[in-house]
Amino acid sequence: MTVTPKSVYVKTYGCQMNVYDSERMRDTLKAMGYVETPVPDLADLVIFNTCHIREHAAEKVYSELGRMKRLKKEKQESGGEMLVAVAGCVAQAEGAEIIRRAKTVDLVFGPQTYHRLPDLIARRLKTGDAIIETEFPAEDKFEALEQQNGHRVLNRNVSAFLTVQEGCDKFCSFCVVPYTRGAEFSRPPSQIEREARRLADAGVREITLLGQNVNAYHGEGLSLAGLIAKLSHISGIKRLRYTTSHPRDMDEALIEAHASNPKLMPFLHLPVQSGSDRILKAMNRGHGIDYYLETVSKVRGARPDMALSGDFIVGFPGETDTDFEDTLTLIEAVGYASAYCFKYSPRPGTPAAEDPDQVPDEIVAARLARIQTLIHAQQTAFNRSCVGRTLPVLLEKPGREQSQLMGRSPYLQPVHAIGQKAQIGAVLEVRIDSVGTNSLSGHIELVEA
Ligand code: 5AD
Ligand code: SF4
Repeated sequence: MTVTPKSVYVKTYGCQMNVYDSERMRDTLKAMGYVETPVPDLADLVIFNTCHIREHAAEKVYSELGRMKRLKKEKQESGGEMLVAVAGCVAQAEGAEIIRRAKTVDLVFGPQTYHRLPDLIARRLKTGDAIIETEFPAEDKFEALEQQNGHRVLNRNVSAFLTVQEGCDKFCSFCVVPYTRGAEFSRPPSQIEREARRLADAGVREITLLGQNVNAYHGEGLSLAGLIAKLSHISGIKRLRYTTSHPRDMDEALIEAHASNPKLMPFLHLPVQSGSDRILKAMNRGHGIDYYLETVSKVRGARPDMALSGDFIVGFPGETDTDFEDTLTLIEAVGYASAYCFKYSPRPGTPAAEDPDQVPDEIVAARLARIQTLIHAQQTAFNRSCVGRTLPVLLEKPGREQSQLMGRSPYLQPVHAIGQKAQIGAVLEVRIDSVGTNSLSGHIELVEA
């Protein structure tokens, strides 16, 4: 007798930590016999791994859930049952409210409980009741996942994420992360190393170490610099990156690692959020502009070609024209290779949301347009500066056009070049011939050293 496998559809919103969490859920579900389907129609299980960082991100989930009502009915009519799960930070923040607003939902679980997925599914199927699991459990999620999945690492690409640190104790006054992801926690180095070796064995060549505050990593007394040194010994791993860093945690050892470790890539995402000391104070960032600029100059002292990226919030409560101009001045002074700019979004439960001095939307929209123009100009200038240079590119996958490969420069720019599939996974020298809107094109010059 052949048994039709159950199918699962996973949709991920938000940050790279969510991408990582979705991968781990996929591993667990595959071990349970689920196969992945690219569309939610007729799936046995639909998971929305959600983001709560800005209002817009959270609302997108509710509109998707509305659509699921009809799909769930169609599945029932075909004699089956579709379970709809909401995971991630919206689940953590809104809990039972999700079931009240969207009756189609069967499972709600937060970022710290997704390792319990097999049990949650079994309980839901047995009792027929919706299940909400949003506490911060005492057991080690990563330990549990490792036991569930054993040595299975499935379908990883050349480049993979690895969460090493979670949560945040910084409490920036605009941010929900300390509430949805919880207190800061660093995974033990040995557990991380085992996972990195498994990834390398599965063909991964680049690992991006993830954490909301990744450079606050302090697993069993080891700093992020120490962890990077440890992982650099894995021969299959050719490149290491880490994100997202807080300026306050950019310690000397980490800066020095950029000078001495050739596997550590010269790209640093170092959000500053605003260029005004007054606003930084109101944001509870714990540092000022001078400190940020000094950190940037130390990092560039260690690695002169370091490409910087950042996050900026415009229209934080009380932000004046002068504060905003200060942000533009800071951007000019730093020179970013790329950056994300967001309209301030008041998040329930955060101190800044209570501030009566909210900036009117038209002003925020105008500021966003200006900051984006400046960032775009800097990004274009940076990309253009690469034309004529030969860069080592890690080839990741086939490109959209025939015989074309897609890879990444050390500075995280996508690079397209004609090549063969067998070259995927190699770092090859690519001469950059031209730039597109967001990517570089070139030709492979040399075979791997
Ligand atoms: N409004 C707008 N942007 C925010 N971010 C975090 N919280 C908010 C908010 N309430 C941005 C910050 C952070 C990035 C991940 O999201 O810039 O660095
Ligand atoms: Fe949020 Fe600030 Fe923590 Fe980053 S450092 S996750 S912005 S509270």
